[in-house]
Amino acid sequence: MDENQSAISKPKACIIGYPAKHSLSPILHRYWINQYRLNADYRVEEVESENIFEFINNLSKKGYIGANVTMPHKDIAFQISRPDAHAIAVRASNTLWFENNILRSTNTDTEGFLNAIDAVFPNWDHHVKEAIVLGAGGAARAIIYGLVERGITRINVVNRTLHKATDLRVRFGCSVIPHSWDALPNLIESAKLLVNATSLGMQGKKPLDIDTKLLSDDSIVCDIVYSPLNTTLLADAKARNLVVLNGLDMLLNQAVRGFELWFGIRPKITQELYETLVAHIVNAEMADNYYRPI
Ligand code: ATR
Repeated sequence: MDENQSAISKPKACIIGYPAKHSLSPILHRYWINQYRLNADYRVEEVESENIFEFINNLSKKGYIGANVTMPHKDIAFQISRPDAHAIAVRASNTLWFENNILRSTNTDTEGFLNAIDAVFPNWDHHVKEAIVLGAGGAARAIIYGLVERGITRINVVNRTLHKATDLRVRFGCSVIPHSWDALPNLIESAKLLVNATSLGMQGKKPLDIDTKLLSDDSIVCDIVYSPLNTTLLADAKARNLVVLNGLDMLLNQAVRGFELWFGIRPKITQELYETLVAHIVNAEMADNYYRPI
């Protein structure tokens, strides 16, 4: 087979978003492609909203066997594919693949969160009866769904726009308790798990202002923000020796399933991969290139 034929037949996936060029997904999927010596590729496709319907509908014609989908296209990806139960629960799709020529979709953010937390704190779900999730956007929905699945009985959802938190109680049931931001100081002491699922604390955004001293000594603190990796929230929690989980842990874990669906190998998250991504985040911060979530 000559070089051209090999390039034509090479299975390839992509990340579709707008913007997408600062996504970490190409770095991590190409790492795995190299690691498993696959003749495959993973590309970046920046697609504006007016073209997204046409792009996803022609994904296969463009030579793709699947894709990750990031902001702002997760809703449209959900609508124009056949979603699985995870995507239906979260009402957003971040991963596309073909099954018997049908465009399927899933949402891997829930398993990204659950697998990451299982790795740092086995049986955490026996320990946590009450949790706080800050935020009620797409990332928060995936995390709340995971908490409901694991039987957490009191999930306090704190959001600037209260009705979005109230909508999540309608969606996920009465273990979800909506609150506005001013309720937070009264909730912190009894929660064993605190998750920041807002963009607060991200480089270039407003800081997240929380008094972590109020958290109990056996609580777990997670932040979906990964630029900076060591957010003020996580730094404060670490200073208190609390168990912490950063945004990169969750990002890596959510990427595993897509790679497996497209290329048939369940890839491993290694220390080397983790460090490769940390180096990219640090370099991008120095160059003022803020990363978009996957
Ligand atoms: P994602 O899909 O990544 O979760 P999103 O759907 O835009 O992104 O959600 C962002 C979350 O961060 C929301 O919960 C948002 O609160 P609102 O629902 O009130 O918009 C929260 N957020 C963003 N900026 C905020 C700010 N300055 N103060 C408080 N919450 C903020």
